Amino acid sequence: MQSKTDISIKWMGLEESFDRLRAEKYRSPYVILDGQLASDDRVLALLDRYALEAGMVLSQEPTTEQVNAICETLSESPAITSIVGIGGGSTMDLAKAVGVTAANGGKSELLQGWDLPKKKGLPTLVVPTIPGTGAEISRTAVLKGPIRKLGINSDFTIPDDCIVDPSLFSTVSKEYGVPTLLDCYIHCVEVVHGRFSDCYSTWASEEILERFEAILSRPYDPTVRENAELYAYCSYLGGLSLLGGVVGACHGLSYGLSHGLKISHSYANILAMNVLHDYYEDECEKVEEYCQLNDLNCWSKVSAVNKVSPSTAKKVSEGALFMEKLWRNAAMNDEDAIPKAKIAINQMTRLLEERL
Ligand SMILES: [Fe+2]
Repeated sequence: MQSKTDISIKWMGLEESFDRLRAEKYRSPYVILDGQLASDDRVLALLDRYALEAGMVLSQEPTTEQVNAICETLSESPAITSIVGIGGGSTMDLAKAVGVTAANGGKSELLQGWDLPKKKGLPTLVVPTIPGTGAEISRTAVLKGPIRKLGINSDFTIPDDCIVDPSLFSTVSKEYGVPTLLDCYIHCVEVVHGRFSDCYSTWASEEILERFEAILSRPYDPTVRENAELYAYCSYLGGLSLLGGVVGACHGLSYGLSHGLKISHSYANILAMNVLHDYYEDECEKVEEYCQLNDLNCWSKVSAVNKVSPSTAKKVSEGALFMEKLWRNAAMNDEDAIPKAKIAINQMTRLLEERL
């Protein structure tokens, strides 16, 4: 009988995987690159090898305006028939949004919402370089639009292909890696505690939460291969669990924070968990402990670029309550959902006044 140690697993890296996919669909793609990787040797070697140029280097959250501008370029470049996005969640979301908008026509802001695209998008390949976003498999592409930040949520937004190479995570700092891993953890917590998730998503989320016991018990370190593989596995399965799962109170409040402050999605989640003990008691503690273990002070980062103004509380509340479905998912019943949400939002706005 073959022992466990006789089994050798062959990992395909970024280049080898891309080589295979390129022949099928990605001969002449439009490439979107994360600004952080603009001088990354591994990514530059890949672009060089296939003589690909990065059509767009993204350094901030994607907007509907950017998507529309790229789609305009594509409409004048018939040779480009596919999209590649290499980077974190924002880069992958931009690539996914471009793929689906280009195929459906019209402005991307008209596709923000749920199940609005009618057609499959252009072939889209994404390569995650930050662990935990789950954007490599999820059915949303979050964009800042003229009215609000909202996803294009649709089955047609799911990328056609993704290459997950854990070695690409090795240079991600704790300031990026810890919050995005916690975002993935929180997704699973919300799915497991929510009322609206299907059983497959709940099972997948339960499985990931077990793996997270190991992640949360040791300091963040993506240079250790075992950690990087665990991060990659949880990220992918976490994204997959959202296909039939619904997030909850943390994401509801987090959207409100993003509406009222200059704050990234994953930092907003961590702040939101400060006031959600009524929903996710143990998990709120775990999020705080993991930040402490890694010496990550989210408040100092957020307070460096934000001050509370007279309109902050109103904007946070407006953004959070817009996500009514998430609050209903997190509450025991529909009647309690909004009154309970308002309590959490008030606690949050008081905390913002104290801390910012
Ligand atoms: Fe999230």
